[in-house]
Amino acid sequence: MLQKDLVSIHDLTAADVAALFALAARMKARPAEFRTALSGKVLAMIFEKSSTRTRVSFGAGMTQLGGAAQFLSSRDIQLGRGEPIADTARVLSRYVNGIMARTFAHDTVLQLARHATVPVVNGLTDLLHPCQALTDYFTMSEKFGKLASLKLAYVGDGNNMAHSLMYGGPKCSVHVAIATPEGYEPDATVTANARADAAMAGTALLLTHSKEEAVEGAHVVYTDVWASMGQEAEQPKRVRDFAGWTVTNELLARAHPDAVFMHCLPAHRGEEVAAEVCDGPRSVIFDEAENRLHVQKAILATLMGRL
Ligand code: CP
Ligand code: NVA
Repeated sequence: MLQKDLVSIHDLTAADVAALFALAARMKARPAEFRTALSGKVLAMIFEKSSTRTRVSFGAGMTQLGGAAQFLSSRDIQLGRGEPIADTARVLSRYVNGIMARTFAHDTVLQLARHATVPVVNGLTDLLHPCQALTDYFTMSEKFGKLASLKLAYVGDGNNMAHSLMYGGPKCSVHVAIATPEGYEPDATVTANARADAAMAGTALLLTHSKEEAVEGAHVVYTDVWASMGQEAEQPKRVRDFAGWTVTNELLARAHPDAVFMHCLPAHRGEEVAAEVCDGPRSVIFDEAENRLHVQKAILATLMGRL
């Protein structure tokens, strides 16, 4: 049974994830059966950062489940003028049945979860992006018909996406390899937690500076932008530091013969991924994007409807 909130995959059990995926698969196959699952329920969506997929998939998902979503830009609500996070959480809890938040500081989502009496879902922070990583493992299960003993290789910046994929591997029985340039390794605390989770689950977690080593035999080759939201000023330095780290067809050739390419999007073709890979036959980027809708509907129905 899921806890009140979905802030990090680290907080979930393997059984939680399996139940979410089973529900997401049912919702994807038979959406009409769930048209009233969240009838009359409202989701507040707080955004401190830009979004296309998260904003639209959560909004559409609420409508498809019979509820409604309200988009709240942090520029427009009092939170952006200094109203305490705790007060915002307590006030919103009097109006709505759930809160989804995309923030810079991870602590903002933690505080919202602590003070809200309604479920809080992490829609991306500087540290984590759990809804995307869950969706990616769901997509992986669709593509391969199973998850156990498969390998996912992430190549690039040790960022929020890398962290959530590291947390997701042990919950899905997937081996994870993360390759970053020196100086761009994943967060030390996340790494320690993920290592402990992997040891418990019996899955591998490899951290390396060799993208070739990481990709060897992988079923999924994953990358993300070199400069995340909030790091725009570092873009020129990062382009220099990540030279040679583009995911190319040559690199993909080292992966498993049936390997697929994944990217959370938005993608920068010619930087972290070559256009021939991003738009090539192995790319499943738009299936990942679509599955955000189905997986998040399962999350919303589970947390807000206790379905
Ligand atoms: N992948 C993802 O979260 O996309 P958005 O930034 O468009 O929401
Ligand atoms: N790492 C990226 C993911 C965007 C979905 C960012 O935080 O900007």
